[in-house]
Amino acid sequence: MTWTNSKDTTLRERAMAVIPNGMYGHQSVMLLPDDYPQFFDRAQGAYLWDADGNRYVDFLCGYGPNLFGYGHAGIDQAYVDQMKRGDTMTGPGPVMVELAETLVAQVSHADWAMFCKNGTDATTMAMMIARNFTQKKTIVLAKGAYHGAQPWCTPLKNGTTPSDRAHQVFYEYNDVESLEAAVREAGSDLAAIFASPIKHDTFVDQELPDPEYARRARELCDEHGALLIVDDVRAGFRLARDCGWSLVGVKPDLSSWGKAIANGHPISALLGADIARFAAATIYATGSYWFSAAPMAASLATLKLIRETDYLERTITLGERLRSGLGEAASRHGFGLRQTGPAQMPLIMVDDDPTGAKGYFWNNALLKRGVYFHPWHNMFMTSAMTDADIDHAIEAADDAFKLLKAAGPLEPVAKLEFLHAVAG
Ligand SMILES: Cc1ncc(COP(=O)(O)O)c(C=O)c1O
Repeated sequence: MTWTNSKDTTLRERAMAVIPNGMYGHQSVMLLPDDYPQFFDRAQGAYLWDADGNRYVDFLCGYGPNLFGYGHAGIDQAYVDQMKRGDTMTGPGPVMVELAETLVAQVSHADWAMFCKNGTDATTMAMMIARNFTQKKTIVLAKGAYHGAQPWCTPLKNGTTPSDRAHQVFYEYNDVESLEAAVREAGSDLAAIFASPIKHDTFVDQELPDPEYARRARELCDEHGALLIVDDVRAGFRLARDCGWSLVGVKPDLSSWGKAIANGHPISALLGADIARFAAATIYATGSYWFSAAPMAASLATLKLIRETDYLERTITLGERLRSGLGEAASRHGFGLRQTGPAQMPLIMVDDDPTGAKGYFWNNALLKRGVYFHPWHNMFMTSAMTDADIDHAIEAADDAFKLLKAAGPLEPVAKLEFLHAVAG
């Protein structure tokens, strides 16, 4: 089928009139190559169809939730069955207790669970619980890490006040000295250290956690009576069947979850150790949809698959196949690729590309060949992908490199100029 985008163009024009700037947040394609579709018609398994009917192997997986495939029959059946019995009711269903029991059994540091809707709800509650627990204010965070879109953590400061960001000190991920310096700066006011399980910031190479850094974060929290918070919203159950830092042998006091825990159904969670139970019980946190039963049933079905299938090993194997195939394709055409992070959550950037022009060109060419990649955000594998999907992506990448080589020097990407301004 020939690639067209006339329906998307019309939808964008209509959206411009009734949605601020046509779209907002990280799912706005404003910072992606111009041809990237903004609106999607449907999704199934590993595939996504845009409003014009173009099909893509989707390596964004809904920015993380798609772990077992879009529209997974078993998970969706659990959702529908519960929805028919009752979803958003005057109180939660028995399924809430079962889900809390299941997560507590599954995640080794957890003794209790609370449920909410978005990852930001969970990270915000984590911060409040740490402040309630310590009766202190300062949180220490890794520079550039994303923890959500509330005034205290949104990456764009418009509409926030300096006081929303008060009592925050930043450190460099994986850098023990800078972590220690941040904790020193917090002084006697340290409430928590936040860490992502891996460094998965946008625009920069990903990093696995250095065990020494993770252990030091634990020690510093223990020395200061503060809480260690691991934000597993994006990487949860993609690195391990336990908390992400189980891989480096470090147990946090609190961990925040979302995205993959219900394969895309709207639910997030905060898990905690006994030490923080009373502090968690004495903050006020709620939402009209936080106790809806159907997403909880979907989460239970997802967790069963997490326990009982080889999804994790499968996504790693698929990711490794992609990584080596892309590496070979790049060098065949004289390009370098920086493929960082775990194979099942790859960030792929074209090397020697200071303005982003090569990456944009290459990603756009992949898009036109039915492969949805992202030029500067980490991607995700879903266990619904097949070897044939990966091989299709590698073939498309090979073609795209050929085109990139033929294109010669490229103009800098105007929409990314703000990055260079920031970098100075
Ligand atoms: C690490 C991390 N924390 C928190 C969030 C916020 O989650 P949500 O967008 O569901 O509020 C995200 C979302 O991408 C995330 O990646």
